[in-house]
Amino acid sequence: MVNDEIRKKVEELREKIYYHNYKYYVENNPDISDYEYDQLIKQLKELEEQYPSLKSSTSPTQRVGGIPVEGFPTVEHSIPMLSLENTYSKEEIVEFEGRLHRQLPGENFEYVVELKIDGVSISLIYEDGELVRGSTRGDGRRGDEITANLKTIHTIPLRLRKKVRGRIEVRGEVYMTKSGFLKVNREREKEKKPLFANPRNAAAGSLKLLNPRVTSQRPLDNFIYLLADSTKIEIPPTHLECLEKLKEWGFKVDAHAKLCLNIREVIDYCDTWANKKEDLDYEVDGMVIKVNRIDQQFRLGSTTKNPRWAIAYKFQAKQATTKIRNIIVQVGRTGAITPVALLEPTFLAGTTITRATLHNEDEIKRKDIRIGDTVIIEKGGDIIPQVVKVIKGKRKGIEKKFSMPVRCPVCGAKVVRLEDEAVARCIGSSCPAQLKEKIAHYAQRTAMNIEGLGDKLIEQLVDKGFVYDIADLYKLDLSTFSSLERMGEKSSKNLLHQIEESKNRPFARLIFALGIRYVGIRGARILSDNFSSIDELSKVKKENLEAIPEIGPRTAQSIVLFFKEEKNKELLEKLKKLGVWMEKSREASEEVKKTLLSGKRFVFTGSLEHFTREEAKSIVERLGGRAVSNVSKNVNYVVIGKNPGSKYEKAKRLGLDILTEKEFDETIKGLKD
Ligand code: IVH
Repeated sequence: MVNDEIRKKVEELREKIYYHNYKYYVENNPDISDYEYDQLIKQLKELEEQYPSLKSSTSPTQRVGGIPVEGFPTVEHSIPMLSLENTYSKEEIVEFEGRLHRQLPGENFEYVVELKIDGVSISLIYEDGELVRGSTRGDGRRGDEITANLKTIHTIPLRLRKKVRGRIEVRGEVYMTKSGFLKVNREREKEKKPLFANPRNAAAGSLKLLNPRVTSQRPLDNFIYLLADSTKIEIPPTHLECLEKLKEWGFKVDAHAKLCLNIREVIDYCDTWANKKEDLDYEVDGMVIKVNRIDQQFRLGSTTKNPRWAIAYKFQAKQATTKIRNIIVQVGRTGAITPVALLEPTFLAGTTITRATLHNEDEIKRKDIRIGDTVIIEKGGDIIPQVVKVIKGKRKGIEKKFSMPVRCPVCGAKVVRLEDEAVARCIGSSCPAQLKEKIAHYAQRTAMNIEGLGDKLIEQLVDKGFVYDIADLYKLDLSTFSSLERMGEKSSKNLLHQIEESKNRPFARLIFALGIRYVGIRGARILSDNFSSIDELSKVKKENLEAIPEIGPRTAQSIVLFFKEEKNKELLEKLKKLGVWMEKSREASEEVKKTLLSGKRFVFTGSLEHFTREEAKSIVERLGGRAVSNVSKNVNYVVIGKNPGSKYEKAKRLGLDILTEKEFDETIKGLKD
């Protein structure tokens, strides 16, 4: 028989242990030694062994004691676990505020801004102060019941520190510390086990283990960030007070939550953390902005997916982990064959990435990239994603090595790689893939600027056999365009007009548009300064070209070869006959100069490498355009430098023309001819 004295003793021991647990794990400030703590646990264990009727599922002895399960039962969330709407820019935060004012006109809002912990979301239910159920979010309506695993996390109270009658539900995030993650992976490497890709996957994997003893070995931790609506006791009037209450009850609450009195303060606080987050030992992928007053939260309500009273502001992730589904090759304008990785779609810095360039064969070998590999990808300044490295620990042995095709996948011609070149090329002279790229190059803004002649259209024109070379563009008529997909009469007319207009571009642009190897827009400008017509340029000797400062032997050689080539001669002859302007003419250039930038609005964002902001703005203005500071529908071009930020995101959303600094440079150089 258990007498009251023993019952009391057991309770006292448990209370003591809960207290010391909290001091040690949550506050990081123990007031007894580990030895003394272990003695308390030992005494309690002995008593529980001796008097099994006193055992309790929330006893501190039960943290590691669960037995392995076969699978996790599914549980229904009494109130769905929603997710947050993601935003990526300051403008969107301001829009969020605007929405709040529209929904609750005339009211003031205070906000609590918290770190967005990158882990696994969980729900915990307590009845009369005791943990009765812990579960994952699952699909939001139903999740896995993982109480035994969650109990192994010392910062999750098994019993609340205050007497709380009734039912409460809290929600939060389980995460693995960065240092813990590295340690776990080091051990796994030694044991030749597959590595975790990141701390979030490691936390998720650890919570899904069927044996809680193994989970208990994993360095997991948690933060609780919400007192859920299903809580059956009175809820404090503000979110900040809820957080206080959660702390009093013994939950671990992130100390970085801040009350902000207006949206300016919210944005400033988000900015502070964008620069500081790396200092933390846990991964933070953004900030969460919550309306502070619970009555306002309640009146704002939720959509089926997201609460209307909170949003997430996500930091731009620069790297992501994904898998290579396949490696294909693309054929460029000069026949260059570029291997491209087709990826499992992954979200990175605001866009879904499905491809990454692999550059060339040597690069693939150097990084040992194989089909099926799990890789880390990164978005460079020029927005083309690259594969940074392979996570070799994820290999299953079924990954396939890639080899360059010996024949062009488009036209079947031979692929050759010259000794001194990293690039392999298709040598087919009528390769449709090359032709498409040539036309795209010819039509681009910095070349002949045929607005509206995009990749999809070029593809149709070539595939349907309407165009066999660039000159054919000038033979197209209204009925041909109208027969193409998504081309109405109006857009066909516009396009025809654009093609006609392109006949009068400045000489330098034409030279660039021809796509002579090694002749970029800068080189084309130099040639146009030195020669007055294509006729003259086509007859020049290599030595004379080399005599021009800035034209090296490689470029000179390439120019001479271009004009020697029979096919090119024919093309130029055709273009001339069709009325394409092939010489320097002041009138033609001036005309274009005026029409191209006049009235065009530019926004600059991010740091430019080769201009100061002021220089860039004054160049635009000298050429007849306007430099404005805000992105809107009325803006024509958004020029992005390094770390372009929110204006760039907005420009993408509005579908504006985005120029890299290099493209901007090329555009203005072309115009200055
Ligand atoms: S509040 C209605 N606060 O971010 C959801 N969520 O989609 C209320 N998260 O999976 C969530 N840190 O698990 C909130 N301080 C924080 C958070 C946070 C991380 C997670 C959450 C959810 C995701 C949002």
